Amino acid sequence: MTRINDDLFTERNEYRKHILLESEASINPWEQFEYWLEDARREGIKDYNAMSITTINQQGFPNTRVVLLRSFDANGLVFFTNYLSSKGKDIEGNDKVGVNFFWNTLERQIRVHGVIRKISTEESDEYFASRPRESQIAAWASMQSSTLRTREELENAVIHYTTKFDGQTVPRPEHWGGFRIIAHYFEFWQGRPSRLHDRLIYKVDEDFNWFINRLAP
Ligand SMILES: Cc1cc2nc3c(=O)[nH]c(=O)nc-3n(C[C@H](O)[C@H](O)[C@H](O)COP(=O)(O)O)c2cc1C
Repeated sequence: MTRINDDLFTERNEYRKHILLESEASINPWEQFEYWLEDARREGIKDYNAMSITTINQQGFPNTRVVLLRSFDANGLVFFTNYLSSKGKDIEGNDKVGVNFFWNTLERQIRVHGVIRKISTEESDEYFASRPRESQIAAWASMQSSTLRTREELENAVIHYTTKFDGQTVPRPEHWGGFRIIAHYFEFWQGRPSRLHDRLIYKVDEDFNWFINRLAP
């Protein structure tokens, strides 16, 4: 414990790889998002599409976990999950979410605020049908976020649904599908030397025009 604590005190990195200036940033945050996501993909970052999403639970506590971005456009960021999970219940009570992408080797972070909506059942069906069969079975077998007495309980549920759907297309469970995060705020953070990082934020007005500001690091 003590040794790692000593290391934490002294762990320090300088960020020198990229810069982010108003003159080169896109006027549209979705385009800027696409550039950076594409950079992360080309960089070969494993799970470059992983994002931390924070919901607010019934007690008012923020609740954060990682999910995978599966598609995006100017309408929002889409991910898939179990609607009856903890996050699903949080979202039912409060539709406001925060999202964070961190790409270590690019020295970049993106922050998004937005409201979240279920995607259409057709969109969920289409994505569910594209998943590997094992993942489809898992969506049935795992009551995500509920308490399991043992690991075997989960494995038995997998056996049960594998048998049940043998020889058939696995249908999408009603409780499993996509959410879309409709963004109204973005922050693009680019690490720079001496902690003098670039931070450009985009806010949208009622006419859906985006405005850029720079924040102090
Ligand atoms: C790299 C990574 C990707 C993940 N992708 C997803 C995902 O796309 N959907 C999902 O429901 N859970 C995903 N998870 C699991 C979630 O982090 C979380 O454990 C799960 O959704 C239950 O969260 P909840 O109890 O807050 O609802 C992922 C975890 C990691 C580490």
